[in-house]
Amino acid sequence: MTRIIVLSDIHLSPTHGFFWENWCVARDFANAAEPDAVIVNGDLAINGPESDAEIAFAATALTKLRGRVMALPGNHDVGDEPPGQDPDQIIDDNRLARWDRCFGGDRWALDVGGWRLIGVDAQLFGSGLAREAVQDHWLDQQLSTAGRPTALFLHKPLFLDDPTEDAESPSCMGPRARARLLDRLDRSDVRLIVSGHLHQHRDRMVGNQRHLWVPAVAFAAPQAHGGDDRCGLTVLDFSEAAVEVTIERPVGLVSHDLAAIKGHGRYPFLRDMPPSPPPDAD
Ligand SMILES: [Fe+2]
Ligand SMILES: [Fe+2]
Repeated sequence: MTRIIVLSDIHLSPTHGFFWENWCVARDFANAAEPDAVIVNGDLAINGPESDAEIAFAATALTKLRGRVMALPGNHDVGDEPPGQDPDQIIDDNRLARWDRCFGGDRWALDVGGWRLIGVDAQLFGSGLAREAVQDHWLDQQLSTAGRPTALFLHKPLFLDDPTEDAESPSCMGPRARARLLDRLDRSDVRLIVSGHLHQHRDRMVGNQRHLWVPAVAFAAPQAHGGDDRCGLTVLDFSEAAVEVTIERPVGLVSHDLAAIKGHGRYPFLRDMPPSPPPDAD
């Protein structure tokens, strides 16, 4: 058996430390569990698209996780694909380069426990950047050479309720990019798709694929999408052809209310708030 811990949406910042204590709880739980690897599934920062310091701060925090750590970017790290939820924070080459300088890349693959785990940059799908085509080609290679059950990790879910829904939403991948990706996944042995972004846990079979939304570490879901909005972290136990999913909510993990933190409309974004650095961050 291979144990993987998924931490998602940790939302760290050297200037806005609202969620630092939750990070410490999740980090300590992961270290005590001694997993084979920790996947950090996007939104490591609050204002990563605008700040070298935020991405560097998150990267330093991740060095305190023991063992293999594999990170993927989210919209709060490298920006959204257009049109996005914030026109000032659309993914571009400079934002990707900032991520690369700290993490070395935005995709990875690992063969463990009879499975192939593939992590991709969700923000590239529908971006139109040259790197989207490069990632597409790489993903096709990883899928075609797997020869085993495969799990795909990415920050954003492919859809909210139905794979054929056609509304554009910053809550999930766009319809055209989704259709292209699903077509490729359906031609391979992808059995599990793990996403964050919505800050809620939901676990469904759609066709032959299990779509697992993992809870956030930082704060509870600001919008209801049919899942459990409480904070948590996810343990995946992979065996030859199966995977067992356990949601853990360690003592001390607080399901913060984002609207309350932002003063119920006083501040549109966390980054607009007066600085409140994390206590004793190291
Ligand atoms: Fe998030
Ligand atoms: Fe996100």
